[in-house]
Amino acid sequence: MSAALRADPSAHGLRFTPLHPVFAARCDGLDLRQPLTRDQAVAVEAAMDRYAVLVFSGQCIDDDQQLAFGRNFGEVEAVPSLVDQGRRRLPDNQVNDISNLGADGQLLAADDRRRMYNLGNALWHSDSSFKATPAKYSMLHARVIPPHGGETEFADMRAAWDALPREMQDQVKPLVADHSLMFSRAQLGFDDFTPEEQAKCVPVPQRLVRRHMGSGRLSLYLSAHIGGIHGMPKPEALMLVRELTEQATKPPFVYSHSWQLGDLVVWDNRCTMHRGRPYADKLYPRDMRRVTLGDVAPTLEQPQ
Ligand code: OGA
Ligand code: MN
Repeated sequence: MSAALRADPSAHGLRFTPLHPVFAARCDGLDLRQPLTRDQAVAVEAAMDRYAVLVFSGQCIDDDQQLAFGRNFGEVEAVPSLVDQGRRRLPDNQVNDISNLGADGQLLAADDRRRMYNLGNALWHSDSSFKATPAKYSMLHARVIPPHGGETEFADMRAAWDALPREMQDQVKPLVADHSLMFSRAQLGFDDFTPEEQAKCVPVPQRLVRRHMGSGRLSLYLSAHIGGIHGMPKPEALMLVRELTEQATKPPFVYSHSWQLGDLVVWDNRCTMHRGRPYADKLYPRDMRRVTLGDVAPTLEQPQ
């Protein structure tokens, strides 16, 4: 069978329904408690290359099944352990605890460092852009959701790139930005890092414009983790990043996901940004689990 036919989703009982004019789709026809066939995995990856965000609804999966699904598409990343790593709720360091709960299962107190740290997810970002080799896919599963709020928004960075004026494209295409977890947290005034934490947050360089391997399209590579651009005064760099982020997150490029229990949303961090929307996190639990896959190399080692 040819590669094109093998990647044809309809051949495997998978159906993709677009959720937005430029990206994001719902995928029906899979029960993620069962292992994927090779052909199903190829079809999902082909759809990811096209849509960049896929929603799989009604999935009653546990951590191990979520990890097994992830391993179809790459290497699972270790969870970054920046803040208070001794107080983790989940024992497994491959499943990222995206919740407002402590190890005792209770809501985090308002002034808990982990809560303040988690608030950084509300800024537009790309996961693990602060790692030398950043993330490929993230897979977020809804286990407990609040009665309202807590949506996750996604923005298509390939469409945003396509929409930039030619002069702006020429200006930003060669640029290299420094990314660190401390830069995103400092934006919200959370900057009392211990020396050990600082040592884990050495900035890493990433291209500001990268070629998305699966589609061959160019993409902006923006993130709240950016704290500077090589060869540019810091205020000029941060103003440029702010300007690009504003452009790239305008409504025509944004899909907002309202969570249902059991939703698994998979996104491609190489060509999208996302942010969590507010909810009453001092009143209601929200328990989401994230499995993240690493990309193949630092962006500067990938062909542009
Ligand atoms: C994440 C993230 C936002 C949210 O899991 O990487 O940024 O809505 N989540 O929980
Ligand atoms: Mn994130």
